[in-house]
Amino acid sequence: MEKLQIKLEKWVNGGYCLAHHDGHAVFIEGGLPGELVDITLTKQGKKEWFGVVTSVLEPSKFRIPSDCPVYLECGGCSYRHLPYEEELKLKTNLLESMFPKWKGKTDVIFGPMEGYRNNVQWQVVGNEIGFFEKNTHQIVSKTSTLCKNVDKRLLVEDSKTFLTQNTKHQKNHTNHNQKFGRSISLRLSKEKIVQYDLEETEIEVLGTQLKVPAKGFFQINQFLLETWLKKMKSLLPESSKVLELFCGCGTIGIALREKITSLYGIESHDNSIQYAIENAKRNGTNSYQYVTKDLYKGYLPKELKQYAIWIVNPPRSGLSKGIIDSTTKLKPKIMIYSSCNPSTLQRDLRLLEAVGYRMDSMSLFDFFPRTNHYEVLVRLKRG
Ligand SMILES: C[S@@+](CC[C@H](N)C(=O)[O-])C[C@H]1O[C@@H](n2cnc3c(N)ncnc32)[C@H](O)[C@@H]1O
Repeated sequence: MEKLQIKLEKWVNGGYCLAHHDGHAVFIEGGLPGELVDITLTKQGKKEWFGVVTSVLEPSKFRIPSDCPVYLECGGCSYRHLPYEEELKLKTNLLESMFPKWKGKTDVIFGPMEGYRNNVQWQVVGNEIGFFEKNTHQIVSKTSTLCKNVDKRLLVEDSKTFLTQNTKHQKNHTNHNQKFGRSISLRLSKEKIVQYDLEETEIEVLGTQLKVPAKGFFQINQFLLETWLKKMKSLLPESSKVLELFCGCGTIGIALREKITSLYGIESHDNSIQYAIENAKRNGTNSYQYVTKDLYKGYLPKELKQYAIWIVNPPRSGLSKGIIDSTTKLKPKIMIYSSCNPSTLQRDLRLLEAVGYRMDSMSLFDFFPRTNHYEVLVRLKRG
């Protein structure tokens, strides 16, 4: 692997600092802007190169020692060499640089920076258990006992003991990945721990009793879930008729039921839809309907025009052309959009602005402290 000495210029998305060398943009992990560092190049494309800091010759005044012995090896975190207050500023700056009209106006919401994950997927290879090293299928040792992002109850000393203590039939209780071994997927369920690819999870939030099916999606930051839902509730008008896209097991619409008179939820994971129907009944919302549909195919039917408020919470790929185009026919008055990917959010907001929507609220929820990820919640109004 080639080595270089290089001066780091500025933060860019993805947890990288940008630098330039010989006409190449170099994206570097483990550095801070202004630092002079030695790096090892990990990937050399035609234009873009990638590297990781191996030693710091001129450190930034913001640099702190990382509190994780395998930082940058496991690839889960990007900002452990920076104080958390600085990480929040950096995330806000990166977000606002994508939405310049919002400079200085973003609501930034954060919680405890450790133990926030309510789920984890441990990889198992032979006798080893933990996270894979970045871009490999090698376990990084001790990750399953020391990861600071994961709730302590989900840390596992070794897979054999875990499986003997927690399951009757070990063979049936690990997810076999044909090429690379197995994985164990754990999630907090009320007071116990479940293997969430095999069992349902029970969650109580904002006075709402929810069940999530095996393999069903659920938000992972246990400390910010309620705050996020409350913020969404504050953005929702009274007596709303809501179309909820990418609704999962119904979490958002059901938790916000006090302000909703009727709701139509759509999602592609059929088990999640079956659970949403049950979750709605369990919480006394009888006017809710749910259907299974692939939202990346086709347009939304014109019958949905009666729902003036849309709540959308897509995966990282964001909204589809079909959904954006449907807004011109269905003309929702308000769209509340929660996104885990600012790049696709930026793309979608440009398209939605072009058809008459304008953003009147933007909040950054730091759902994923110490990593380069975060959630963005916006409200758009028509006209
Ligand atoms: C970020 S999650 C949001 C779930 C839910 N709003 C919640 O808070 O629990 C995105 C959801 O989109 C669903 N999804 C993924 N691809 C989809 C598609 N092509 N069509 C419809 N739903 C899809 C996933 O199953 C997942 O439940």
